[in-house]
Amino acid sequence: MERGNFGSKIGAIMAAAGSAVGLGNIWRFPTECGSNGGAAFILIYLLCVFFLAMPVMVAEFVIGRSSRANAVGSYRVLAPGKPWVVSGFMGVLAGFLVLSYYSVVAGWTLDYTVESLTGTLLDKNDFAGFFGQFVASPWRPVIFLTIFLLLTHFVVAIGVEKGIERYSKIMMPILLLIIVVLAVFSMFMPNAIEGIKFLLTPDFSKVTKDVVLSAMGQAFFSLSVGMGTLATYASYFNKETRLVSSAVGVCTIDTLVAISAGFIIFPAVFSVGVSADSGPGLVFITLPYVFQEAFGSVPVLEYVFSGLFYILLLLAALTSSISMHEISTAYIHETFHLSRSRAATIVTAVCLTLGIVCSLSFGVWRHVTVAGMTFFDLFDFITAKFLMPLGGLLICTFVGWDMNKKLVASQLDSRFTPLLMILFSWVAPIGIGVIFVYGLISS
Ligand code: PFF
Repeated sequence: MERGNFGSKIGAIMAAAGSAVGLGNIWRFPTECGSNGGAAFILIYLLCVFFLAMPVMVAEFVIGRSSRANAVGSYRVLAPGKPWVVSGFMGVLAGFLVLSYYSVVAGWTLDYTVESLTGTLLDKNDFAGFFGQFVASPWRPVIFLTIFLLLTHFVVAIGVEKGIERYSKIMMPILLLIIVVLAVFSMFMPNAIEGIKFLLTPDFSKVTKDVVLSAMGQAFFSLSVGMGTLATYASYFNKETRLVSSAVGVCTIDTLVAISAGFIIFPAVFSVGVSADSGPGLVFITLPYVFQEAFGSVPVLEYVFSGLFYILLLLAALTSSISMHEISTAYIHETFHLSRSRAATIVTAVCLTLGIVCSLSFGVWRHVTVAGMTFFDLFDFITAKFLMPLGGLLICTFVGWDMNKKLVASQLDSRFTPLLMILFSWVAPIGIGVIFVYGLISS
């Protein structure tokens, strides 16, 4: 079967960075950081990124490019008849689940984009009240969730180079620029210093096993690793793409964006007096205050900046949602010999159904819980704290222990190969395993 390809090296890196940078950095990172104590969480997060999640990323690149197949098919090519394929199936399942609840938050972002551009968002003065009412309403968030999923569907159905690559290359740099500008503004808000302290002064007494599991889950989520997304993308990489330096580049960009997002959100959180652990609404409640404070004296600027920010956040969410959609679409398309667009339609339909369930869990179904969690929280928990770390553990172990050593070395083509082999075989599997087991026991 004819497979798509990224047209250029930089396009491939931008697409991987596009998958990594998204709501995970700007919405989930501050939420997790706020609920888990701030600076100490960030330190543990950084360790998890560079010692656990980055090796998984490189391992996914190796699997994808050497097999040139989807998340499940890659194990059928590289290790026929062996049980590693389970990790591929877990990835496809995670793809469905993450995309479903991710689209809910992306739908909120779409609503905020429209409200910014039409001038109705920043007219309000109680953003917490507005947000609470909005997410609890049965229709509006569902409509925006549907539009977002259709946008994702449209790009995936067009294909790899024209769809995914072209969008990522333009949007990523603009997003980075605007984030830095907003962080600077936020740090000059009244009382912002408290937020900066929260981000920079670690309080290790707050570190529990669950905090460490949360930090690891956030690292995996933010870098899109552990579920075969980046293996699927790497199956479209060309021979010239350098796997190790690309992974280092993607991890660095992703981490810088997450930390900068922290520097936008927390100074503002302390400045406007919102509680740092107020959960998924944090970003949607504090950011509008930043826009008001920074540009309030020139209303036009206020609308332009907030509109631009939410559009970019939406586009960042789109480059991530496309990659989640792609795991399942590529799998269905290549395994069941359905056309790309038919495979994409199945994925969209399933995710829309699950997404509606997640959206309603903020309103009419907020009392329906499983193990004490609403559907939205449950999907987040199962993926970030369970399927992704476990998938990452299997991926590293496979590349470190079972895959043909020569093939791995030729894919890596790096002077750091011996070091990477230690990370794949020992550091990452043991580290992930220990945090996973202890974290789950304590939660
Ligand atoms: N890394 C994305 C973000 O930070 O928003 C989320 C994500 C994308 C998770 C793709 C998993 C995935 F496969």
